[in-house]
Amino acid sequence: MQLQNNRYTLGGVDMLSLIDEFGAPLYVYDAGTIQRQYTRLDTAFQGIQHQIKYACKALTNINVLKVIKDCGAGLDTVSVNELKIGIQAGFQASDIFFTPNNTSFEEVKEAIALGAQLNLDNMPMLEKLGKEFGGSIPVCIRINPHIMAGGNEKISTGHINSKFGISITQLDELEHLVKAHKLDVSGLHMHTGSEIVDTDIFLKGAQILLEAGRRFPSIRFFDFGGGFKVPYQAGDKQTNVEELGEKLSALCHSEMKVRGTSFYACFEPGKYLVSESGFLLTKVNVLKKTPATTFAGIDSGLNHLLRPMFYKAHHDITNVSNPSGERRTYSVAGYICETDNFAWEREGIAEIREGDILAFHNAGAYGIMMASNYNSRPRPAEVLIKNGKAHLIRRRETLEDLLATQIELA
Ligand code: LLP
Repeated sequence: MQLQNNRYTLGGVDMLSLIDEFGAPLYVYDAGTIQRQYTRLDTAFQGIQHQIKYACKALTNINVLKVIKDCGAGLDTVSVNELKIGIQAGFQASDIFFTPNNTSFEEVKEAIALGAQLNLDNMPMLEKLGKEFGGSIPVCIRINPHIMAGGNEKISTGHINSKFGISITQLDELEHLVKAHKLDVSGLHMHTGSEIVDTDIFLKGAQILLEAGRRFPSIRFFDFGGGFKVPYQAGDKQTNVEELGEKLSALCHSEMKVRGTSFYACFEPGKYLVSESGFLLTKVNVLKKTPATTFAGIDSGLNHLLRPMFYKAHHDITNVSNPSGERRTYSVAGYICETDNFAWEREGIAEIREGDILAFHNAGAYGIMMASNYNSRPRPAEVLIKNGKAHLIRRRETLEDLLATQIELA
């Protein structure tokens, strides 16, 4: 988002003109930002042969997937529907990981039939795979390295109490199972959390994974997951991907010497690729002064952007309608019948007037994807800005959409 001649633009398009054309509230994504992020990550890991598998749970709009595909990435999916959406966007199934957790074996078999690469994280499922398919279906195995990484406990997934992965302490049992069923272990995987700032923690997990891999000679790759942090506000820490890339490459190359064979690395960024590309544009319905604060009440809420309420996440807010307005302090709240405050006593927002458009930053990842129809509110439309033009990529929902799956009894 840039300020040019006192107007905010995104990818060369005037942001207020988007509201005139598509209405509010509106999710907007800039393809250029996604491409920039991809290139930065790809360059950071140039020291090792690698594949970037976009964790598409962050944002699965088919048009966004096509932008990412054109960058050269594959996909990481967690449900058969994500897998099918990926195939519809033009990805080869063989470039798509299927990384489910606690899904049924029927769903795993569907993913096999579609041709995805399996990434399983529990032994009963591996046993079923072995019994039915022997070693004919290559399988990557998710390991839980027992490290605490990530921005907050809700998004930490590699610690001892986490439901994800096979514990690093159960490797003997796992090795036994693999041998008994002659499983073809194509790779080992970890994903220890989202918003991992500390490269040393990441490297510690990687070291554990590489050492575990010594038990499995058939390995062709190690998948180090995602979780690279982007800044959510000025001065916010971010993962130094260049430093990580350099150190991780060195670690992998020395492991190749130990193994006596080479392997490639995989990464599964979600937020890193799409978080900063997205904005949620909302309209101010009400300005209300109370003894405690001044509320700006907007035409959106936890039904459209859950992260502030669910993770206490900070999202920067810009008053797109009043770029040169005097900076003031506001609490910004949604229209849902719950306490859906996006920000409490946030300083430095340009003076807000009724009808102004507020933009929430970092809304590309886990924004629309975690949206709901709570309070029977439709979900917003989505727009992609590409090559200087705005394209509608999802229409706004209607009351008819909300009722479409209901069955009214006679
Ligand atoms: N790989 C696996 C297996 C994952 O489970 C995830 C995210 C990723 C990759 C991508 O992580 P990322 O690079 O986006 O941090 N809804 C939360 C984040 C949940 C992440 C779930 N798994 C949020 O809005 O902060």
